[in-house]
Parts: sequence; C-alpha cells; structure tokens
Amino acid sequence: MKSPVVLGIESSCDETGAGLVREGRLLGHAVASSMDEHARYGGVVPEIAARAHVHALTPVVRRALDDAGLRMSDIGAVAVTTGPGLSGALQVGLAGAKSLAYALGVPLYGVHHLAGHVAADTLEHGPLPDPCMVLIVSGGHTSLLLVRDLARDPIAHLGDTLDDAAGECFDKAARIFGLPYPGGPAIDRAARDGDARAVAFPRPLTGARDPAYAFSFSGLKTAAARWAQSHAGRVLPVADGAAALQEAVADVLTRKAVAACREHGVGTLVVVGGVAANSRVRSLAEERCRAAGVTLRVPPPRLCTDNGAMIAAVGDLLVRAGAEPAPLDVSIDPSAPL
Ligand code: KG4
Ligand code: ZN
Repeated sequence: MKSPVVLGIESSCDETGAGLVREGRLLGHAVASSMDEHARYGGVVPEIAARAHVHALTPVVRRALDDAGLRMSDIGAVAVTTGPGLSGALQVGLAGAKSLAYALGVPLYGVHHLAGHVAADTLEHGPLPDPCMVLIVSGGHTSLLLVRDLARDPIAHLGDTLDDAAGECFDKAARIFGLPYPGGPAIDRAARDGDARAVAFPRPLTGARDPAYAFSFSGLKTAAARWAQSHAGRVLPVADGAAALQEAVADVLTRKAVAACREHGVGTLVVVGGVAANSRVRSLAEERCRAAGVTLRVPPPRLCTDNGAMIAAVGDLLVRAGAEPAPLDVSIDPSAPL
C-alpha cells in the first residue's frame, strides 16, 4: 500500500510554507513571506510575523494543493514545525495544523525545524547516506551535525556558533554597508562586482588551539563596522566589503565542515539552511569537497530557505518509519534542542 500524502506546515519565522510529499517525492509547495513588512525595522518583528502567518496560512495550503493538483481530502497526514522559532509564529502554524488534522481525521506529527532543513536535501537528491555530515547555516543557526537516520536516531551535535549565526552576520554586515534587508542575498549580489582580497577580514576560531567545530561570527561583524568607519567621509567600496566578508564566512564554514568530514571518516557533506543559498559558500564547498574526496550535497536555493516541503519531508520519513503521531494537545517548543 502506498504511504499517505503528507502536508508539511512551516511558520517558525517570517515564511509561511506548505508542502506536499509522498514517499520522498515533492508533489507541490508554496511559500509566502512577510519579509517586506520587516524590512523597515532591519529584522524580523515577532508580532508582525505571527499576524502575517494568520493571513497567509490557509491560502498557502490552498496554493500548495493546487501546485500538486491535489484536493484537501487527499491529505493523509499533517506535519508541522513545533520549534525552534518565534513562539507566536509557531503557535499559528501549530493551531492551523491541528485544526486540519482534526477535521480530516489524519495523524499529526511535530517536526524539529532543523531536521526539516536537513531533510530538504532528500527531496532533490534522494535518501541521505548513513552517516553524513551536515552543515546547517541559517539566520538563527550555524551547526555541524553528524546525522545517521533522521527518523530514528538522534542527531549528534558536533559544534555550534558561540555567538551570531552566519546568516545573522550577513544581515548585520549588510546593514552596516547600507544594503537592504535581508542582508544575505544583498551581500551575495553586491559581492559579484567586488574584490574579495580588498579587505583582510579575520577568520574567527580557525587557530590550531581553537575548538575545531565551534564558530564565531560576531567579531566579523565588528570588523565590518570598523572597516566602514575607517571610510568616514569617503565613498564606501561596498562591493569589495561584501566580497571580502562573504569570502571570510565561506572560508570558515567550508574549512571546518570539510575537516569534520575528514576527522570523522564521513564521505558526504550536506550544506543546508538559508546561507547554503550563498553562491560563494556553494562554490568553495564544491572546490574543497572535491579536493578532499567528499561528496557534496546542497539543495537548490528555493529549498534552502524556510519552506513547508522540508517539514513534509520529515513527516513523510516519520510516517514511513512507523513513528508515533503527536497528541492533539502537543505544544510548541520555541527553544527546542536538537
Ligand atoms: O533558513 P532561513 O531561511 O531561515 C532561518 O531559519 O533562519 O535563513 C535565513 C538566512 C538569513 O540570514 C539570510 O540573510 C540568509 O539566510 N541568506 C543568505 C542568502 N540567502 C539567504 N545568506 C547569504 N547569501 C544568500 N544568498
Ligand atoms: Zn530555517
């Protein structure tokens, strides 16, 4: 018997996502973003994000169904992000998912947002090898994970950022450079016309005595601010600053991720999360993985940033692994550990 169509709902930050997955295959998905409403504040405003999810959730589910050519009654299970994320935003997605699961009489599955980012890659490249190294780089997280079986085994956490996440560093530096929000894509675009060697930004925590799998990006933000201040009264060569900053972030991320593969004897590196959409992170990871004999997997950019398909992908793995569904009184866990 075929396993059911799983609807995934994502609402942990400023994207409302819905996706439909069956047996590892993406059938359709849709995303709405409240990004523009936050732009004038320079960052996500939790109250605005939560309200935007209320507006967007039902239309986004509708659009995902249309994209897949399916009807509401075709949904056989509902998966939803329960954390980590903004509590008001998560509540909206969970309330919507519970209502749908209850009305349709189908099981509900709670999904960890980061497991969703990891599973996004399976929709493009098939099941993950066991084990694989995962570098998750988003606006809220920068972590190295050793993953065996997403549905059955806990993820081993090798290291994290000690301060800012890589995406946060891009967003804050973009602000310093006078680039629009969200900063990551803006820096990526500006860097195309810049010279990465024009500014010698530091490579934090890459010394021989530094922790191998920990990251730190707040110093880079400070270095970017100092560099900008040093141009006071003159035109800031933004393209050069963006290219040099992007190079520093990509260098540290890929250097540590490839070293972790080597040290753990792992043959596959998976890079996921919003920052995996960065063109230099992608090209440098490719270069270094090739040199180290490591297979690199990176989802297409549309599956790197937050979306519902990645949550449906985890739901689908849970259904097929025979996991216990969540009770209808399940709660959100805004600071969910891995
Ligand atoms: O995974 P995501 O959509 O949301 C979180 O879970 O945080 O990641 C958003 C982050 C933002 O910081 C954004 O600036 C960054 O990903 N980002 C990028 C690019 N596209 C998105 N950073 C660098 N280059 C990009 N092309
Ligand atoms: Zn995310």
